[in-house]
Amino acid sequence: MRIVLGIESSCDETAAALVTGERVILAQRIASQDDAHRPYGGVVPEIAARAHAERLAPLIEATLADAGMRLDAVDAIAATAGPGLIGGVMVGLVTAKALAMATGKPLIAVNHLEGHALSPRLADPGLEYPYLLLLVSGGHCQILLVTGVGRFRRLATTIDDALGEAFDKSAKVLGLGYPGGPALERLALAGDARKVPLPRPLLGSAEPHFSFAGLKSAVMRAKSASTGPAGAGEGIGFSGNAAGPELAEGPDYTDADIAASFQQAAIDCLVDRTRRALAKVGPVNALVVAGGVAANQAIRAALEALASGHGLPFIAPPLTLCTDNAAMIAWAGIERLELGQSDPLDVAARPRWPLDPDAETVRGAGVKA
Ligand code: KG4
Ligand code: ZN
Repeated sequence: MRIVLGIESSCDETAAALVTGERVILAQRIASQDDAHRPYGGVVPEIAARAHAERLAPLIEATLADAGMRLDAVDAIAATAGPGLIGGVMVGLVTAKALAMATGKPLIAVNHLEGHALSPRLADPGLEYPYLLLLVSGGHCQILLVTGVGRFRRLATTIDDALGEAFDKSAKVLGLGYPGGPALERLALAGDARKVPLPRPLLGSAEPHFSFAGLKSAVMRAKSASTGPAGAGEGIGFSGNAAGPELAEGPDYTDADIAASFQQAAIDCLVDRTRRALAKVGPVNALVVAGGVAANQAIRAALEALASGHGLPFIAPPLTLCTDNAAMIAWAGIERLELGQSDPLDVAARPRWPLDPDAETVRGAGVKA
């Protein structure tokens, strides 16, 4: 039975996990840094790197203790080597290198996005390649054809903001704090999704790309229109570039209405763009969603309906495997180990690391890591 130690430190979660080739998560621990970043309303790279450096070694020890294992019982050490905040990635990768050197076990440098992309196969043993993957996280919004380990064809990306970023920024406008996605989803339950007219950027366009900047700006406008005097909004950063419908005078939107309307607009875009990608791609075994935003129940339900309309199984990992975690990194390590792959100890950390290096640059895309 193969066992891989996975390490994740590319953003604001310090995580370690032990996963077997039989898809058993023997132990996993996640130390969230939410409290450290909350006062700043977003992740501060220097604070993140320092927190990873302080927490990672004891976290790995505790994870091994949870599983009742010694480090020399693992078959390989897998760590996120990018993309992400370089300081944090370096902490995880250097730690993995030291452990690999000390134990003589192979090192596997994992692409964080591949961790997300393969996580549904950890959750579901029946999921075979190829599958169509919607990868929606804080930094990414892509549709990929996944044909094997390390084999991705990007069909779509965002030309501006990632979906998680749009959730987080809209949540901030609504005063929901950080991280905003889950809080916005909760608030949306109490609102009317048809109340606030919001744009659906790129809906119906030929290529299945995404755009969320205009939607986010329209949320800012709706919030200021419903609470402040007409024309207010500059103070909260309204950029004025949203191509959305005009808002009526003096609307009585609640924050819950805005949250629900935002979420529905995002879902309409996701479903339309994914439908377009399904029409462009050849036969696939399943429609799969992964990444932090895949934790959203309304999004899961809408994609499930889309998949069933195409006669496809819909697969979404459990919530704990959607947001950043080390079990998905360990699992990507297992898949690579089974193909005989490992990396030299001088492998470099990569702040940028596209899954499909052949994908063409899309105007405005890739501005954020
Ligand atoms: O994959 P992830 O943990 O980190 C990245 O690699 O980016 O994704 C984090 C993102 C954040 O933007 C967070 O607000 C969003 O996922 N998120 C959600 C939900 N849970 C997490 N967005 C919408 N609804 C949720 N329930
Ligand atoms: Zn992630």
